[in-house]
Amino acid sequence: MPTYRGEPVAEAGLEWRRRVQESEALILASPEYHGGMPGAIKTFLDFLTFDEIRDRPVAFIGVASSPHGGTRPVLQWQEVVTALWGQPIGPALTVSGVKEAFDEDGGFRDEQLQRLMPLFVARMQAAVGTE
Ligand SMILES: Cc1cc2nc3c(=O)[nH]c(=O)nc-3n(C[C@H](O)[C@H](O)[C@H](O)COP(=O)(O)O)c2cc1C
Repeated sequence: MPTYRGEPVAEAGLEWRRRVQESEALILASPEYHGGMPGAIKTFLDFLTFDEIRDRPVAFIGVASSPHGGTRPVLQWQEVVTALWGQPIGPALTVSGVKEAFDEDGGFRDEQLQRLMPLFVARMQAAVGTE
């Protein structure tokens, strides 16, 4: 996605807006880059307007290779999503030390994350009324 600076929106941007508008909820998940959200994710958010994201529940998963990372992109997303009148829901999941975080079956090695994941999903389901 090229940087959006208010010019007429190209088809890729319109398609992205449509997909968000048709969604019941969003999960933003990405790595932490230089202590924050990757620029590409901000660009995707810049392509949205209130019309697409207003009142949508939005949950967050931040991932980082360092042992204590992952929270900073989440904090930034919460501010941006609030500015767009989206509805941040929490708590977020943060996966630090991601290169060692998963076992061979794709499950979390960390017991707390393994326990939190279903609760995270249940909260999303509650937010969209599909419990
Ligand atoms: C440009 C760049 C900046 C990054 N900055 C951070 C950082 O600030 N903190 C951190 O823990 N990891 C940082 N990382 C590592 C990513 O979080 C890590 O690569 C990612 O979580 C794992 O995805 P990958 O396997 O696709 O690289 C950075 C990676 C890149 C490429």
